[in-house]
Amino acid sequence: MTRLAGKTALITGAARGIGRSFAEAYIREGATVAIADINLEAAQLAASEIGRGTGAGAIAVQVDVADQASIDACVAQAEAELGGIDILINNAAIFTAAPLVEISRADYDRAFAINVSGTLFMMQAVAQRMIARGQGGRIINMASQAGRRGEPLVAVYCATKAAVISLTQSAGLNLIQHGINVNAIAPGVVDGEHWDGVDAFFAKYENLAPGEKKRQVGASVPFGRMGTAEDLTGMAIFLASSEAEYIVAQCYNVDGGNWMN
Ligand SMILES: NC(=O)c1ccc[n+]([C@@H]2O[C@H](COP(=O)([O-])OP(=O)(O)OC[C@H]3O[C@@H](n4cnc5c(N)ncnc54)[C@H](O)[C@@H]3O)[C@@H](O)[C@H]2O)c1
Repeated sequence: MTRLAGKTALITGAARGIGRSFAEAYIREGATVAIADINLEAAQLAASEIGRGTGAGAIAVQVDVADQASIDACVAQAEAELGGIDILINNAAIFTAAPLVEISRADYDRAFAINVSGTLFMMQAVAQRMIARGQGGRIINMASQAGRRGEPLVAVYCATKAAVISLTQSAGLNLIQHGINVNAIAPGVVDGEHWDGVDAFFAKYENLAPGEKKRQVGASVPFGRMGTAEDLTGMAIFLASSEAEYIVAQCYNVDGGNWMN
C-alpha cells in the first residue's frame, strides 16, 4: 500500500472533509502532504493528527485561494518544506445557493474567486514550478455532479463546477507536454460538514425538516446512500499514481451512479 511512496502533495481545503481524507489516504500511501487551508489552526490540528506516527507526514500551510499573494506564498512555502511538489489537489471550494432572483453579486464574486480563480491560479503557480523542476506532476481538480447539470436553486455553484471541468480540459491539454497530467473528480453527494450546510439551505427554501434533504438525496443515489469522503480516496490515489500516466484532461464521476456521461 505505498503507491505514492516518496511523493509530495499539496492539497487545498484539507483541514476537514474530503480534502482531509485525501491527505490521510496519501500519507497512508507513502506521500508527504501539505495541508493548505484558509483556516490555519484547523490545518495545523489536522496535520498533527494525521501526520502523527507516520514515516512521511504532514505540514500545515495557510492559503486563501481567492488571493494571488496568498497562493504565491503558500506554493513557495510548500515547495520549500516538501522539497518540490509532485501532486496538487485543488479541493478548496465554497457552496452557495439561492433562487435566481435572489443571487447577490457578492456571493457570485466570492464563489467564482474561490472555486474557479482559486483552481486556475493554484494550477498556474504549481505548474510553473513543476515545469521548472522538470519532473512532471499530477493535478487533480475537485469538480462536482453540480458541474454536469444546472439545478434550480444552485446556479452559481453549478456554474463554478462546470468551469472547473472546462479548466481541467484546457489545462490538461496544455500541460501534458510537460508531463503534467491534469484530471478532475466529480463527486455526487458526500456527507459531512459541507452537506450539513446544504441541508440547512434546502430546509429553508423547500420547507423541509432538518436532515430531510440529506435523506432524500441519499435515497435517490443508485448505490443506495450518500457518499463518504473515503469513497473518493481510491480515485484520488489512482489519478496521482503511475497507473494513471496515460489519463489526460478527464473528469471522473465518483457518485454511486448518480450521473453518466
Ligand atoms: N460534499 C459534497 O457533497 C461534494 C460534492 C461534490 C463536490 N464536492 C467538492 O469537493 C471539495 C471538498 O468538499 P467538502 O465537502 O470536503 O467541503 P468542506 O466545506 O467540508 O471543506 C472545504 C475546505 O475548504 C476550505 N476553504 C474554504 N475557502 C477557502 C479558501 N478561500 N482558501 C483555502 N481554503 C478554503 C475550508 O476551510 C474547508 O476546510 C469541494 O471542492 C467541493 O465543492 C463536494
